[in-house]
Parts: sequence; C-alpha cells; structure tokens
Amino acid sequence: MPQTLRFHLNDRLIEDERAQPTTTLLAYLREQLHLTGTKEGCAEGDCGACSVVVLDAEAAGGPTYRAINACLVLLPMVQGRRVYTVEGLRQDGALHPVQEAMVRELGSQCGYCTPGVVMSLFEACYRRDLREPWQLDDQLCGNLCRCTGYRPIRDAARSVAASCPQDSFHARLAAPADSIAFTRESAGRIYATPTSFTELWSHLAAHPQARLICGGTDLSLLITKRFQDLPELVSLEGLADLRGISRITDGFAGWRIGATTNLAELEAACLADLAAYTPLLRMLRYFASRQIKNRATVGGNLCNASPIGDLAPVLISLGAVAELRSAAGSRRVALDEFFLAYRKTALQAGEILAAIELPELPANARVAAYKVSKRRELDISTVAAGCYVELDAADRVAQIRLAYGGMAATPARARNLEAALLGRSWSLAQVEAALPALAHDFRPLDDLRGSAWYRGLLAENLIRGFVLETQHEARPNLSQRPSATVHLEVVP
Ligand SMILES: Cc1cc2nc3c(=O)[nH]c(=O)nc-3n(C[C@H](O)[C@H](O)[C@H](O)COP(=O)(O)OP(=O)(O)OC[C@H]3O[C@@H](n4cnc5c(N)ncnc54)[C@H](O)[C@@H]3O)c2cc1C
Ligand code: FES
Ligand code: FES
Repeated sequence: MPQTLRFHLNDRLIEDERAQPTTTLLAYLREQLHLTGTKEGCAEGDCGACSVVVLDAEAAGGPTYRAINACLVLLPMVQGRRVYTVEGLRQDGALHPVQEAMVRELGSQCGYCTPGVVMSLFEACYRRDLREPWQLDDQLCGNLCRCTGYRPIRDAARSVAASCPQDSFHARLAAPADSIAFTRESAGRIYATPTSFTELWSHLAAHPQARLICGGTDLSLLITKRFQDLPELVSLEGLADLRGISRITDGFAGWRIGATTNLAELEAACLADLAAYTPLLRMLRYFASRQIKNRATVGGNLCNASPIGDLAPVLISLGAVAELRSAAGSRRVALDEFFLAYRKTALQAGEILAAIELPELPANARVAAYKVSKRRELDISTVAAGCYVELDAADRVAQIRLAYGGMAATPARARNLEAALLGRSWSLAQVEAALPALAHDFRPLDDLRGSAWYRGLLAENLIRGFVLETQHEARPNLSQRPSATVHLEVVP
C-alpha cells in the first residue's frame, strides 16, 4: 500500500514520504512549495481565496475539473490526482483565457481574491453542464471579493463559461487516472484511503477509534479552526461502490445515492435523472458554495448529524432509507430513525453509511423544501423544512411527512402536526386549524441564528407556504432569480 504522498501539481510530479497527512493542501502549497499565489483568507471554506482545481477522474458525467477549497483539503485527499493552482495556468507564456477575461473585464483591484476567482472560472470554462444563468451565480458564490465588485467578475465568467478550449488542459481530461490508494501508519497514527471493503474493515478493526472521513468539509475544520489533532483517519473516498447514483428496481422502486457521492454530482443528477425530486435541487442550490459542494458528500452531511444539516429534512420528507454497512453485512434504517440524539446516529462501531435509497415519487405526491438563513448564498440554515403530502381522490391528506432542521437537537418530523393534518382537506384553513399541534412537536433552538420564538414562527410559515405553493402545482420548481445585486443589460 503506497505510503508516499504522490500527486501531480501543475503537471509536475510531487512525491513526498514525510508530508504529514493532516497538513492542509493550502499550508503545503504556501509553506512547503512556496506557491503563494493561492491565498489564505478564512481557513474555513467561506471566502474562496484558497481555491485550486483538481481533476476528478471518477466524476459521474466523465472526468472533470473541480474548484475546491485548499484550506479544507488534507494532503492524502489529493493522492493520485492532478491539482492546478493559479501558477500553473499560463501555457507557453500566454495567459489562460480565464485570466485574459479577468484582465479584459477589469475583474481585479487589490488582487487578493483574484487567484481564487480565476480558479473558479477555470472550472466554469471546462464545465459541460453550464446551461442556465443561475449556475454561474452558483459557480461564483464561494468567492468573496471586497473591492472590485462582482459585475466585472461576472462578465468575465460569462465570457468564458463552458467555452472549453481544446488546449492541453482539455486533453488532460482524457489522461488515465492514477490510484488514490494511500496508507500512512506509524506510532498509533493512521491515515488510510482503502480501495476495497476488506481493507476498510481491517483498518477499522485495527483502529476502533479511527474517524471516518470523506470530503472533509466538516472534519477538516477541527484541524484548521479548533486546532485538534486527528491521529486516526480512514477515508471512504477510494471505495468505488459507495459513489454514484443508480436506479433500483428489486423490491424497492427508486434511486440509490451512494454515500460518497458529492453534492455537485447530486445537483447535476437533480437536473437530469432525479428531476422529479424538485425539493432536493432547491435545497442544493442554497447549500454552501460550488467549492464545498465539489467535496462535500451526502454521507458526510447526514453522519455529522448536525441539527441544521440541510439534506436530512428533505430526504426524510421524501421517505429515504439509509443503508448501513459493516464487516457483518448490511442493514436498512428509515432515515427518520437514523438520528438518535444531538450529533448521535444509529451507526454502530465499525459501521458506515453506504447509501441512501429514495423511493419513487407517486403521481399524487406534493413536495417542496425550504431553507431560511440570514444570507441567501453560502449560509447555514436557521430553519429548513422538507415537506411531503399525498392526497387522495377527494383531495384529503392520505400520507404526510413534514421534517425540520434547526428546530431541535436532531433533524426530526413534526409528528403531531402530521397527525392533525391526516385525513383533512389540503387547504390553508385546515393548516391554520392544525398548526397549534406544532407547539407539541418542538421546543425550538434558541441561539444567535434565531430565537426560539422566531424559529417557531418560521416553522409555521413554511407550512403555510407549502400549502399555498402546492395547491395548484404538485412539485413547484424554484424560480431562479439572479443573485447579483447589479444586473445591467445593455440597451441598444
Ligand atoms: C463553508 C461551509 C459551508 C457549509 N454549508 C453547508 C450548508 O449550507 N448546509 C449544510 O447542511 N452543511 C453545510 N456545510 C457542512 C458540510 O459541508 C456538509 O455537512 C458536508 O456534506 C459534509 O460532507 P463531507 O464529506 O465533507 O464530510 P466529512 O467532513 O468528511 O465528515 C463529516 C462527518 O461524517 C462522518 N462520515 C462521513 N461520511 C461517512 C459515511 N459514509 N459513513 C459514516 N460516517 C461518515 C465523518 O466521520 C464525520 O464525522 C458547510 C461547510 C462549510 C465548511
Ligand atoms: S481560505 Fe477562505 S475558503 Fe479557504
Ligand atoms: S480584488 Fe480585492 S478582494 Fe477582490
């Protein structure tokens, strides 16, 4: 098993036997390799100054470039991969088209954010799935600029997005990928990226205290922000069977979403095969930034068991089932029984979340999801809700699941409100009559994101919104407003 860190940086092979597995890629680039083009701003995934690009060879739609936050990437996460920084974009002395676009559109002033912006534009340049204006907003929402203003940057983005020049970077997408297997073990410390379940179970048996890691967008913060040591880490990234989205027909009609599927891939699927699950796309649009979604996984979002994790309420409302796997075999648990207490799940020692199964949506199902946060882009929920209702022939509620995040120690269903609505006609008047039951479901969180009173009112209003929104349209689609504060159209 490879012990040596080995990856390509700007097409140059880097091999390092001594690099510490818990060193971030950002620290390594700046302090070890003295590539200081990549900047540090927040060190927690919020500003995008540290954005670099990695070639994701196993992506569902074929190999693709992905912008990621180097401040949250631990070195073994780039094992076997090709990484590009702003220093690597010039070809034969000429600026890359995304750099040229930034110069032409005057997209930089102090320049601190510029390398990160350029790397986000680099991803956009080679994307094959950029079709709608909101996708450009989403592409850029993880890059903060304090002095230029976003209009020139957006103009630069527009001029290069999906242009996919037939250059050496394009050619590189077809290059054979190296293995990402890695194990570094010494003096009670381990970082392993196994590529088979046999290896995974044996690592977990030998290191019962090891923490599982995948995208690292949560766990890396313990290192960068809380300065904790994480001596034993076992990554699930190398297990091909855990990644991807496929149809299931045997005994359960629906879709299987592998736990290590990243959220950018899930979002892409929501625009294609999973288009019926409109609430998932709505939630993913306002989930973190492109850079975070390029690394964050479905499994990581559920297993951190955060009371304000955004996928849980949507997936619970859609009737998802979790597949848990260990050396002893697999078992299935309804997702609404997966969260046991604050930050505690039904996972037992040596067990992983392998996948989520989403049942097919019946024709009479009405669904929606809502996220309320202080800021629209790149913010954490104050309250989120996933709502599902099936109506019978007389428009009475035959089946209902209303799941909330931000209302209690775990994401949870409003079972009293559900019971009060069952059998009632689907109308605002009936919802108003049933709403007092919600007070018996939750004693809302009370913190700096929102008081208990505010959260309680939000929870009520989201159900009012749900009934109004779904009275005439069963699966309302999000109207994609541009987020730019200034949007000037040139009038001829
Ligand atoms: C800037 C920023 C913005 C964010 N915005 C949002 C947001 O809008 N909404 C939101 O919900 N979250 C948000 N997050 C949180 C985070 O990105 C997500 O929760 C993400 O999905 C975690 O996935 P990961 O693969 O990176 O998890 P990791 O950090 O790798 O792991 C998280 C936890 O899950 C465990 N784990 C991971 N995979 C498995 C598995 N398959 N089986 C068992 N255990 C597992 C790990 O042991 C760890 O405890 C944000 C984070 C940052 C840094
Ligand atoms: S330094 Fe701000 S996102 Fe990494
Ligand atoms: S150019 Fe100064 S922060 Fe963007």
